[in-house]
Amino acid sequence: MTSTPVTTTSIAVLGLGPMGAALTRALASGGHRLTAWNRTARTLTEHGLDGGGDVALVGNPEAAVAGAEVVVVCVRDHTASRELVAAVAPLLGDAVLVNVSTGSPEEAAESARQAAALGVRYVTGAVMVPTPMVGTDECLVLYAGAPNDVATATAALAPLGGVADDVGTDHAVPPVLDLAMLDIYFAGMYAFLHATALAGRYGVDPARFLPYAEGVTDTLRGSLPGLSASMTDRTYRTGEARLDMCLAFLEHIVTASAESGVPSALPALIRDASARALRQHPADTDWDVVAEELLSS
Ligand SMILES: NC(=O)c1ccc[n+]([C@@H]2O[C@H](COP(=O)([O-])OP(=O)(O)OC[C@H]3O[C@@H](n4cnc5c(N)ncnc54)[C@H](OP(=O)(O)O)[C@@H]3O)[C@@H](O)[C@H]2O)c1
Repeated sequence: MTSTPVTTTSIAVLGLGPMGAALTRALASGGHRLTAWNRTARTLTEHGLDGGGDVALVGNPEAAVAGAEVVVVCVRDHTASRELVAAVAPLLGDAVLVNVSTGSPEEAAESARQAAALGVRYVTGAVMVPTPMVGTDECLVLYAGAPNDVATATAALAPLGGVADDVGTDHAVPPVLDLAMLDIYFAGMYAFLHATALAGRYGVDPARFLPYAEGVTDTLRGSLPGLSASMTDRTYRTGEARLDMCLAFLEHIVTASAESGVPSALPALIRDASARALRQHPADTDWDVVAEELLSS
């Protein structure tokens, strides 16, 4: 579901890959006027942008930003986005440029410094959802930059839907939150695949295992507030999950993996971290104490 903006804004989008096209579709169906450019020239139909709305394709980035109030840059990486920002900077005037290209926190901070040196009103964005969720209530986009610039960006980009979070002035924060969430997502997906393969070695097919996996995922979700509190107070004395007991579980997972020929690198990594913690802390310390080496390294 998209929300109609109070006023129509001229928005330029540079980069019409899957994400740039999704942003353009949502912004156009929200009532904005879009001028879009892609390095490789394609038609509106080829970009999936023929579904209505006011979208004009142009042949170069300079033509796209002419007259735009907000410019969205959505390309593969920061090497590509910096080149574009440098090219269009002299034409931007008072426009706010929102760079949603993914990069590391350091890359995002460096791109913001370069944009500031060019006199650009610059916002770092991070789209935290896949393309089908753009323009729906499930969308989540993070923004960092000067408060006025973020306010201009979030007002214009309201048709992206869902939640627009202003995370402050530090341009490294949107990408670090993006990557931190992906850290959980990929580790979780790999753990699920590993567990499904392990169960499969004993004739449990993936569909039969799935409800159990979903159940333990709910348990994991319930554990996060406690883990979060542990990383804040760093006392590890609730007595809920002892280090020695958890290490025994992890040894069993590694052994079962080895017995059944499923690669054991992931559980072994957690087992080894737990064993290191047990060499340094009493056995009845909460297992959460494995966080200490992550916090101090
Ligand atoms: N897809 C997602 O679900 C998703 C979710 C969150 C964030 N993102 C981020 O959004 C950004 C765009 O992603 P995407 O899904 O659209 O696909 P992508 O494959 O990451 O990027 C493709 C776009 O980047 C352009 N591009 C690549 N190198 C370029 C260069 N040197 N100069 C100018 N343009 C260049 C491509 O142009 P050509 O067509 O000419 O190759 C195309 O428009 C990425 O940073 C991605 O990490 C994507």
